[in-house]
Amino acid sequence: MIVNPVLSKEIPLPAVRIGASGVAPAKTILFGEHAVVYGEPGIAIPLWEIQTSARLLPFPTDDTAQEFRIVSESAELDAAFSDLSESNPLKKLIRLIQEAFSIPVLPDCILEIQSAIPIASGLGSGAAASVAIIRAFAAAYGLELSDEKTSELAFEIEKCYHGMPSGLDNTTISFGKPLFFRKGKGFEPIHLPDRLRLIVADSGLKSVTSEVVADVRASYHQFAPVIREIGQLVRKARTALENGDLFATGALMNENHRLLQKMTVSNEKLDDLAAVALQNGAIGAKLTGAGRGGNLLALAETAPDTLRIHNALEKAGARIIR
Ligand code: MEV
Repeated sequence: MIVNPVLSKEIPLPAVRIGASGVAPAKTILFGEHAVVYGEPGIAIPLWEIQTSARLLPFPTDDTAQEFRIVSESAELDAAFSDLSESNPLKKLIRLIQEAFSIPVLPDCILEIQSAIPIASGLGSGAAASVAIIRAFAAAYGLELSDEKTSELAFEIEKCYHGMPSGLDNTTISFGKPLFFRKGKGFEPIHLPDRLRLIVADSGLKSVTSEVVADVRASYHQFAPVIREIGQLVRKARTALENGDLFATGALMNENHRLLQKMTVSNEKLDDLAAVALQNGAIGAKLTGAGRGGNLLALAETAPDTLRIHNALEKAGARIIR
């Protein structure tokens, strides 16, 4: 029971289903990262092969503390909610969920987060964790939550991770489909060629999105023409993708990478991996996400090409994500 401050009387706590869970995919940006922050379009797709899940679990019987806690092996976290600092994005998210779902008191359980999405690698690990947790709480309290509302809540937490996010990550991850997105203007689903052989290769270098975004912002005046060029390129890429024109798509990926280099968000490792992919038959290659680390995206025409590019990227030190 809790005391309703308005009625000054005890009311029952909302029923909660322990064991409820939520999932969310990773995402990769095909075209337009960084420029999307300044109102240019971006194209991104969910990566359902790698996911984050969140579950509300009962306390273990030997747990004497019996306090709501968050456990995540991938994030190396095992902490009581009360011990987390107020600036912790997970704590902010839980508080936001409590407010949005009218949950006055946290449930008696453990929130377990499991993620196969590498952290700080441009694949939307932060947004995926937010979406999975929001969905787990919605399921636990029997709430039907639209993808739009889920995205809206996750966007609030994206501000902690990115500073000034475009909203592309949380939108792609919440709606779980390929989309053409414009900040503040929503998105249109886009149709991708049936066999889009995309290789996602992790450079192993971590990068902090908010720092890279802040650096670009600091040089915005210098980069403004490049940002507009990327915007034009993304519009062409949409046509190429919707026409199923793989070669045009690949050429635009290469051009997008070149423009991101101009914005100083690539680095030697990503440039080397792009060169390896192209030398081994990729039709196009570019960094994906904030850059200065994280993942490379390469496009292959055939299954044997895909295998050759995989092997070559692995030999060059990358970890194949897909
Ligand atoms: C990060 O995944 C993508 C950026 O464009 C930032 C954003 O869109 O908020 C670099």
